[in-house]
Amino acid sequence: MEEIGPVTRKRRATSHEIGVTLKLVNGRSTVVESAIGHGDSRTFVTKQNVTGLASTASKEKKKRRNVPSDQLSCHRLQESLLSSSSGYSNYRGVLNWCVVMLVLSNARLFLENLLKYGILVDPIQVVALFVKDPYNMPAVCLVIVSNVFVLVAFYTERRLSVGCFSEHFGLLVHSINLSVILCFPVAVVLMVKSVTPVGGAVALGVYTILFLKLYSYKDVNKWCREMCYAKARSLSRSISCPSVSWSEGRGVGSQVTYPGNLTCRDLYYFVFAPTLCYELNFPRSPKIRKSFLLRRLCEMLFFTQLLVGLTQQWMVPIIQSSMKPLEDMDLSRMVEHLLRLAVPNHLLWLIFFYTFFHSAMNFVAELLQFGDREFYRDWWNSETVPYFWQNWNIPVHKWCLRHFYKPMLKRGVSKWAGQSAVFLASAFFHEYLVSVPLKMLRPWAFLGMMAQLPLAWFVACFLRGNYGNAAVWISLIIGQPFAVLMYVHDYYVLQHREESAGVGPD
Ligand SMILES: CC(C)(COP(=O)(O)OP(=O)(O)OC[C@H]1O[C@@H](n2cnc3c(N)ncnc32)[C@H](O)[C@@H]1OP(=O)(O)O)[C@@H](O)C(=O)NCCC(=O)NCCS
Repeated sequence: MEEIGPVTRKRRATSHEIGVTLKLVNGRSTVVESAIGHGDSRTFVTKQNVTGLASTASKEKKKRRNVPSDQLSCHRLQESLLSSSSGYSNYRGVLNWCVVMLVLSNARLFLENLLKYGILVDPIQVVALFVKDPYNMPAVCLVIVSNVFVLVAFYTERRLSVGCFSEHFGLLVHSINLSVILCFPVAVVLMVKSVTPVGGAVALGVYTILFLKLYSYKDVNKWCREMCYAKARSLSRSISCPSVSWSEGRGVGSQVTYPGNLTCRDLYYFVFAPTLCYELNFPRSPKIRKSFLLRRLCEMLFFTQLLVGLTQQWMVPIIQSSMKPLEDMDLSRMVEHLLRLAVPNHLLWLIFFYTFFHSAMNFVAELLQFGDREFYRDWWNSETVPYFWQNWNIPVHKWCLRHFYKPMLKRGVSKWAGQSAVFLASAFFHEYLVSVPLKMLRPWAFLGMMAQLPLAWFVACFLRGNYGNAAVWISLIIGQPFAVLMYVHDYYVLQHREESAGVGPD
């Protein structure tokens, strides 16, 4: 190994042979572990070995200093750090610079906003978004009523497990139950005037989650029964699974076997667990870490306040000022407002992502000792659109794969048709969660989701690496505020029309 310093191509090639890479961090060299060989038979160089190699390198360096010709030379063959061929990749300082620039530019915006509008943050207004009348909270009642559907699914599974219901009849009951779960809240939100858009969206969100969970519950119990029947058929004169009673269903080492899982406690654990995919034995964490729980709770409280404050102070004034250009169809001003809205909207979306997928889900998981904490993966590195959808919302992605996409593929549907069907269903639910609470049917969320298919094709065909990643970010930053503006505009126009016709909302 040669001198320690910036990694050049030549030196990288040499160091790879012994499995060590030298990198320049803050002007000092650090030694990074790397793998020797490929595939499964990877051997890792331990930190002790690496330290040994580094000291050998420095000894070599000292030895060479004693050679007269080396004492005179101060140049060697090497690339500039910013050349891609230098292999240099430590841009931590540049990342910090980006953060500082972002904070400074937003501080300016923040001051400008304060000077222009004063303080608009009003916590009381937030309560009014959820409830109009504290003695009449239909959204809360809707959530409480949802327990009926949980119990219907539970009762049906119990009957199926003892053979009181045939598979066909069970499927019919489940189908009716699931259809009602989707239709009942729509009817209530549309018919009861006191349901606010935010209250309605929360209630519909709860019902959608319940729909996905109970669908999974039905599927998994059916798969268990099928496995039991197959086992019973293969073993002559064996005890078939359905004859095991619910109380006997606890197997070795507290592992539950079918039908031992069919208890109310088990189903309610699943209903509250941060997953959409049912399993008989969820991985469990050994204990509740109180400090972890407290940290997540503080994050949830802080970020929720921040979300509300930023919406009131930053988003609402921009949206209000966008109405005029939208009404006049002034294209250049519309684009200007869209870009102005893009920054706060994106920031809010990122805060929402962290609050929901990290703080809230980890909080619930810790409380229930639910072990699988993979709620998201590194979607921010997405270089393709499918990668983003596979990694940003893991509970939904897992459900789509397990209960919709793979069953379709098994029935011989092509991959392309399967993916289109998943995106169609997802588009339906996005529209369902927006149009119904706003009480107006508009296609923006549906189209936004369906546009992912041509976008995925375009990015895959024409953009690679960092360009692909930039395209995914741009689609997120621009696509969402576009849909937000369209909905707000339509909602505003509708309200305006109703008010001028004297039918103002009560
Ligand atoms: C549509 C979607 C499910 C496709 O996922 P994908 O990972 O790109 O799908 P792939 O074709 O790569 O296949 C995935 C799995 O199917 C399996 N598979 C592929 N062909 C198969 C076949 N013929 N039979 C059975 N399984 C098959 C693969 O082995 C793979 O299994 P693994 O996950 O266990 O490794 C995904 O893009 C998605 O979840 N989209 C919607 C997301 C969404 O709407 N989210 C909303 C968030 S708000």
